Amino acid sequence: MLLDTNPNVNVLYHAGEILALAEGGAPLAITAELETLGATRSHPGLASGMTAHPKVDPLTGELMSFRADWKKPYLRYAVTDADGMPSVELDIEMSSPSMMHDMAITATRSIFLDLNVGYDFSMLSRGHRMPLRWRDDHKAKLGIIPRNGGEVRWFEIAPCFIQHVVNAYDADEATIVLDAVRYPRYFRLEEDGFTFEAPPLGVLWRYVIDLDRGTVIEKQMADICIELPRINEGRTGRPYRFLYAAEQPTNTEIRGVVRYDLESGSILRYRVPEGDSNSEPVFVARPTHLVIHKRRYHRPRATNALFLRRHELS
Ligand SMILES: [Fe+2]
Repeated sequence: MLLDTNPNVNVLYHAGEILALAEGGAPLAITAELETLGATRSHPGLASGMTAHPKVDPLTGELMSFRADWKKPYLRYAVTDADGMPSVELDIEMSSPSMMHDMAITATRSIFLDLNVGYDFSMLSRGHRMPLRWRDDHKAKLGIIPRNGGEVRWFEIAPCFIQHVVNAYDADEATIVLDAVRYPRYFRLEEDGFTFEAPPLGVLWRYVIDLDRGTVIEKQMADICIELPRINEGRTGRPYRFLYAAEQPTNTEIRGVVRYDLESGSILRYRVPEGDSNSEPVFVARPTHLVIHKRRYHRPRATNALFLRRHELS
């Protein structure tokens, strides 16, 4: 029987299983040749669904994930051990259902994003397909939880939306650094209640959370418009130096790849000519390749993977 899921967002290899991941739905086990196997066999705690962007600790092999729900208590947090077995399952009470697409981890904590985009089911009766919109009246917050469970501490930040986290890490015992692609507005409705405002583009942003003082310092790190950020996943949750992302020269294009050196501040680019486009870059640590999926809009069947070496970025 086919599993009722739509796993077209991300792919995860964990505990000997390749899982195609859906936005909150059930993961689908597949082979490396893309044959469908069906429901997960190695991850019983995740069979009912989770985010498409869980995080694997590269040192312990643990998998941290969440499931955002439309129903109370709206959020469920889970840790799965390196063998796929659930080790933490926790319901987290939230004030309203929030659009959470991604999360972050450090070596000791997990981070949730309760931001200004949330569910508004009244939109369905007004003809919208997706009941999601920007909420001016919602306080944007970062939720910090000890990785193995405990109380969530919420830290208010300026109104924003984040689709994708870059990485996070413990700078010291009481300081967390979170890097993400941030939007000052997203899915915001015009006054007519139907048309969406043109979305601004996302830029690299850093949040420095001081757990002792209860404060967050927010700052923009660069002004290039990017999305779909990736890192060397051997650095997930740890201090890191480089990030890769797809460039967005306009809000209808994904065209080009950038590499940020967070230590020196320098930026390298792989330029893609106008009329072409690419998809998400994936960093492959060995051999030192960056893979991007490149396609031409005017010849939609010409889809291929492109392998870039470091010297091809300038
Ligand atoms: Fe995503």
